[in-house]
Amino acid sequence: MLQNEMNYSNHQNDSVRIVQMTDPHLFADPESQLLGVNTFNSFSAVIDTYLQSKVESDLLLATGDISQDYSPESYQSFTKHVERANVPCHFLPGNHDDPRLMNLHMQGKHMFGHQVVTIGHWLILMLDSTVRGKPAGFLGKSQFELIDKAIADNPDKHVLLVMHHNPVLVGCKWLDQHCMANGEQFLSHVGQYAQVKGVLWGHVHQTYDKFYQTEHGAIHLMATPSTCIQFKPKSSYFALDGLQPGYRLLDLASDGSIQTQVYRVEGDRFSPDNEASGY
Ligand SMILES: [Fe+2]
Repeated sequence: MLQNEMNYSNHQNDSVRIVQMTDPHLFADPESQLLGVNTFNSFSAVIDTYLQSKVESDLLLATGDISQDYSPESYQSFTKHVERANVPCHFLPGNHDDPRLMNLHMQGKHMFGHQVVTIGHWLILMLDSTVRGKPAGFLGKSQFELIDKAIADNPDKHVLLVMHHNPVLVGCKWLDQHCMANGEQFLSHVGQYAQVKGVLWGHVHQTYDKFYQTEHGAIHLMATPSTCIQFKPKSSYFALDGLQPGYRLLDLASDGSIQTQVYRVEGDRFSPDNEASGY
């Protein structure tokens, strides 16, 4: 097994339950706000909501934009929050992250930066869609090679591909400028594999559930609300949504099907600053 691989060989259940939390945008100072929302408190509220649900997950996937200020403390704060969830956390970088600092400061018994994860009947690939210094994404050659090799090595596993950037346009013009620039190429490439069942990302701070049709069937495309501010769906200009922060649960079945739902913090505690004109 390569260093970049993690195999949960002791996994007992037929299916795999995943919780995804994304885009916490934490600061070194826990009092800091992002467009009117205290990101430390909102992330904490998301973890509380998850814990109160009493659902037990096999893995937590953190899909980038962990930090808003590139500080070591923001990554340490994330690690402390996640310890409360008591579930192995696999993370990947977003455009707001510094991957070097991330790997250095997201250390703990539950924190893992592996790109290839095998668990039960599933292969989960944690892809890096970031481009240094740019908000938009691009999937490089090394990531395509990783996908091809991991699927060749695990031909009997169903595949979930995970990344930060959206490979399809979500319908928000201002935000779609910063999508994965070669998303179409990515989807047509992975669509060749009958094993690929789902693609999961963060970045867009809103729920998205659609299907990409291939000759083998449909690939479930999923985006998940941020644990802090929410972007208004279908808005061509920058606009925040009053919806509360949230997370996504996924049940990956042994037959390759995916059951999934987004959950949000109850109430209206986290209201953004509606005067904000940019992000
Ligand atoms: Fe983000």
